[in-house]
Amino acid sequence: MKFCFVIHPLSLEDVARYEPGAAGKGAPIVRKIMEWMPPWATVHITGVRTPDGRETEGWFVTAPLLPEQMMEFPREEVYKRIVRAIEIGAELGAEVAGLGAFTGVVGDGGITVAERAPIPVTTGNSLTIAAGIQSFFRGAREMSVDPATATVAVIGATGSIGGACVKLIAPHVKHIVLVARNNTRLAKFYEQMKAELPCEVSYTTDISAAVRRSQLILTATSSTQDIIQPEDLLPGAVVCELSLPHDVSRRVALERPDVLVTEGGNMVVPGNPRFDRVREPGLEFDLNLPPRTALACMSETMVLALEHRAECYTLGRGIDVNKVIEIEELAKRAGFTLADMRAFDTAITPEKIAATREAATLRQAQGDRVGT
Ligand SMILES: NC(=O)c1ccc[n+]([C@@H]2O[C@H](COP(=O)([O-])OP(=O)(O)OC[C@H]3O[C@@H](n4cnc5c(N)ncnc54)[C@H](OP(=O)(O)O)[C@@H]3O)[C@@H](O)[C@H]2O)c1
Repeated sequence: MKFCFVIHPLSLEDVARYEPGAAGKGAPIVRKIMEWMPPWATVHITGVRTPDGRETEGWFVTAPLLPEQMMEFPREEVYKRIVRAIEIGAELGAEVAGLGAFTGVVGDGGITVAERAPIPVTTGNSLTIAAGIQSFFRGAREMSVDPATATVAVIGATGSIGGACVKLIAPHVKHIVLVARNNTRLAKFYEQMKAELPCEVSYTTDISAAVRRSQLILTATSSTQDIIQPEDLLPGAVVCELSLPHDVSRRVALERPDVLVTEGGNMVVPGNPRFDRVREPGLEFDLNLPPRTALACMSETMVLALEHRAECYTLGRGIDVNKVIEIEELAKRAGFTLADMRAFDTAITPEKIAATREAATLRQAQGDRVGT
């Protein structure tokens, strides 16, 4: 079975990486051009092959809007573009479609798009959650933070990804701080969760306050701006970042050598995957990831195609944790593995981890809590 996956640029840098000519143009012009551009099949993916010999191929189809345009444009206009992108994938032979980044966030998290699309649709969030949880605990292990004694902030806790992560993290930690923007929704989520979660729970809309008290942080928001700043992070803190675009300020890379930030949602694709640009034969598409690596949401779509599961696997908020467990198992069987640690466009080497641990020990010994 073949698949398609709807992508969109997360930033003007993404646009320039694909179309270098855009680099010299002003942001308003680039935005305006994108507003007028129809979706198009951008990437042909081949060579995805499981250890037991199953294969799939597919297409990334671009719905050319930036995250803020997805959020600001009339909802119907955005839906129309996403559905058109899926129609293009279906015309090429795809039987299941995935929704990348904000195409799975806008509106009701894929539900309306799925109703209007010609083939089943998934946000890919179940495998993103599975990969994110693995990354979160790997980060804690690498920095020797014992989850059982840790306070953990989940930012975007009321979201599709964040909500499920809260449930999966809670059995292993001391305290969870639920964080989001909308206080009414957050308070309701807290009321629902507090009896169910086997750890201490609190909630706040104050991101800085939550970050300042947390040794471990998982972030999965639909913010279009940086929301985690270096001055708020505890010495030796670990941040697992699932948001695209990223929530963690790039200043953290420069100013906080004692903090481990990892992108949590990257997976190595089995076989010898190629991401060829459709309109520029011979050129590979730059996903801004290491070779053979894709996002977990893309991987979920590929796994469904490999399993011949043409179904709306993950949609909306309130994700079924059993589906997270199932897709994790299917992905493992198909040979998908968690990618090596990475952040700020760079691999996190064992040397880098050792240096981060050393800087954290030093800072903790100094009792230096930045920002206080
Ligand atoms: N790495 C991957 O493979 C992958 C795959 C899929 C998605 N993603 C990314 O994951 C993120 C979350 O996706 P989702 O489907 O879970 O989205 P979602 O269901 O819309 O949830 C977003 C959450 O973020 C919160 N939020 C939004 N803006 C915020 C802000 N400025 N400060 C604090 N909280 C804020 C929302 O709370 P309020 O409602 O209170 O605003 C909500 O809890 C997105 O960035 C998406 O692109 C990554």
